[in-house]
Amino acid sequence: MAERNTISTKDYEEFSRLLENECGIVLGENKQYLVTSRLNHVLKDNKMDSLGSLIAELNKDTSRKLINRIIEAMTTNETSWFRDIHPFNTLKERLLPELAKGRRTPVRIWSAACSSGQEPYSISMLVHEFIASNPGLLNVDVQILATDISPAILLSAEKGRYDDMAMARGLSPDRKKKFFRETPNYWQINPAISSRIQFRPLNLLQSYNLLGKFDIIFCRNVLIYFSTESKKQILEKMCNILNPGGHIFLGGSESITGITDKLNMVRTNGGVVYQLKP
Ligand SMILES: C[S@@+](CC[C@H](N)C(=O)[O-])C[C@H]1O[C@@H](n2cnc3c(N)ncnc32)[C@H](O)[C@@H]1O
Repeated sequence: MAERNTISTKDYEEFSRLLENECGIVLGENKQYLVTSRLNHVLKDNKMDSLGSLIAELNKDTSRKLINRIIEAMTTNETSWFRDIHPFNTLKERLLPELAKGRRTPVRIWSAACSSGQEPYSISMLVHEFIASNPGLLNVDVQILATDISPAILLSAEKGRYDDMAMARGLSPDRKKKFFRETPNYWQINPAISSRIQFRPLNLLQSYNLLGKFDIIFCRNVLIYFSTESKKQILEKMCNILNPGGHIFLGGSESITGITDKLNMVRTNGGVVYQLKP
């Protein structure tokens, strides 16, 4: 599948439909080059020579191994520590102090497309620092659920091991020293930070009924790839599992305009957070 024109219109359309149904990602028109480059190694590993044969094989893929490989190849896992910083400042300066007041049940935070783990670990580091600098203020556990559609990326997130390149993106020397142990080959996150986090696979297109309720949801840099209809359904489901007054963070280029009227936009110091309407 080295050439763009080796993908027929029929195969491209069928593949686009399949990808959207499986994970919400909308390819749009004329992205044959993207499909070609992203799927090249999947085809090679499975000894196939065209998108058509891959689609045919998918129909027999009861183990879902092949579809998972395809989703992994087609999704973007770009992430970094304390990405965009504003959500983390808002969490520390506004949301955690509010949640701490008279709280008797665990505070629950969901990182809804956590990629290789930098987002949930950043949240946990911040919670750790908040507790350390405000002794006695937050008297309940903080539980973080971290989910992603990709079992492979989740496995690497759960290991909590990062190379120098990943460590260099958004982590201060102080946090690196405080929250990681250096080994000859990688940096290992400390159990004090990882123990607050539960990792599990979840496709955002599926039901959230078994997740329980949350105070805060981080759903950042994933809805950008979805159709308006999928965004509506996802935000509707998220609103249904937010505690009263709960908050949602979206990515810097994402918004709720034309998507839901259940959330109020709250401007914070340099950023935006969405709060469930009363
Ligand atoms: C660009 S990363 C965002 C990571 C992190 N939230 C951040 O902002 O840095 C997008 C993640 O969304 C995941 N993803 C894509 N489609 C998904 C779906 N339908 N359900 C759950 N996760 C999905 C991908 O596997 C990828 O890890």
